[in-house]
Amino acid sequence: FPRTISSLLYSSPSDGKTNETVTVTGWVRSVRRMKNVSFAHVSDGSTIHPVQAVLTKEQSENLSMGASVKIMGEWKESIGGKRQQSRELLAEKVELLGKADPLTYPLQKKYQTPEFLRTLSHLRPRIPANTNLLRLRSNLISTLTAFFAEHSFIQCHTPIITPSDCEGAGEVFTITRPENFFKTPKYLTVSSQLHLEALAAAVPRVWTLSPTFRAEKSDTARHLSEFYMLEVEAAFIDSLDPLIALIEAMVKTLVRSISTSRLGEETLSTVGGEDKAKELEERWNSLLERPWSRITYTEAISRLSSAVEQKEVQFAFPPVWGAALQAEHERFLAQTVFNGPVFVTDYPKSLKPFYMLPSTSTTPTPEGGETVACFDLLVPVVGELIGGSLREHRYDELLAEMQKHGMVLGDGDEDEGSLRWYLELRKWGSVKHGGFGLGFDRLVCYLAGVENIREAVAFPRWVGRCDC
Ligand code: 4AD
Ligand code: MG
Repeated sequence: FPRTISSLLYSSPSDGKTNETVTVTGWVRSVRRMKNVSFAHVSDGSTIHPVQAVLTKEQSENLSMGASVKIMGEWKESIGGKRQQSRELLAEKVELLGKADPLTYPLQKKYQTPEFLRTLSHLRPRIPANTNLLRLRSNLISTLTAFFAEHSFIQCHTPIITPSDCEGAGEVFTITRPENFFKTPKYLTVSSQLHLEALAAAVPRVWTLSPTFRAEKSDTARHLSEFYMLEVEAAFIDSLDPLIALIEAMVKTLVRSISTSRLGEETLSTVGGEDKAKELEERWNSLLERPWSRITYTEAISRLSSAVEQKEVQFAFPPVWGAALQAEHERFLAQTVFNGPVFVTDYPKSLKPFYMLPSTSTTPTPEGGETVACFDLLVPVVGELIGGSLREHRYDELLAEMQKHGMVLGDGDEDEGSLRWYLELRKWGSVKHGGFGLGFDRLVCYLAGVENIREAVAFPRWVGRCDC
């Protein structure tokens, strides 16, 4: 493979390699033509910084923004001028690999709106901020892989095509063709949780990072129809505490790895200006400095209600016990009340899926207000980042819940779509267990200071849009 620009730019001149002959491959970001020489900035995505190549007029003739090139030359101290870099490439041989007609190349040096760039998902990765996000995602995944290995979790793969709707929210995409391929319609998975529970009943600590799909018509900055979910399941736990501690350690590890690296520096310089960079750096620091907050849903409702009474805030939806927390409530809690991540635990049972274990919380609830052992992690700007719970591990109780939710419980193969296998896990060697799912693309937004999830994903899909 050709040498990366990052290895060229960041090898120190003191290693005796000044004035070596090197070959650079990449895409032209700009060409400046002077009277006798030309300067081309060439980038290969390995860093946000391009290499400056010094060319003769003839060598630069067919080069324009977007063209791919191979330049061989001398890597030497740059002379004069105010340059970004202390070294530049004095071209000896320039090979135009693929031209880019400047009249039709859609990416331009001038400002182009995020909305416009979303129509160019095939070219957008060439923009430094977008390239950087690709690198950041990849870095997060390798850090997570090491983190989980260190904590004795094994990475597993769960299916994408499933016979059931894990969350029971009816937001599944249905696969119906080819006709009768699977006898009955199947779905794209909304969560790997149920399969992960089966695996955790054999290997007590498992995780997966898997595509998940939701036919949700939410046209917002934090919803996609296809997104990656990081899911964790652990057996032999009887409270939410180990899950909550694991999450805090995990996110702190990720922040530490970014904020102390060149990737972090490059993230700050592509986030969109000095103010945003400062804000993001403060976010990283505050994530590391403080222990994260935790309250119960019932306490959260009281806090929100008193904020309304005290005229601290106005909501479109009044906070009432038993109703879902609205995005505005979540934002107020994470941004104004806690100014950082907060775990909200023990939501009303009626708001949550069938599989959650009743809670043992001691916070008094209104008459008859049953709660479950679950949590959402809310963070400023993004809102809900993680949802998790302990799972109902008792056969009779789970059966009753599944019947109450009208779930199909036929006998084995005959009844496609049956979740009998899930119930059966409670029949032989059942143990207390729990886990969580983290919206990976939302995490990228949060840690990279990206405002819209449609920028955090290279090829985003959302309601009405799947173009490329
Ligand atoms: O809260 P959710 O729906 O939880 C589950 O699916 C559980 N079965 C997970 C588990 O316990 N294993 O989804 C988990 C997270 C949310 O907190 C959110 O961050 C993200 O997935 N998420 C989305 N991200 C982008 N676009 C969407 N449409 C999302 N829906 C959920
Ligand atoms: Mg949720």
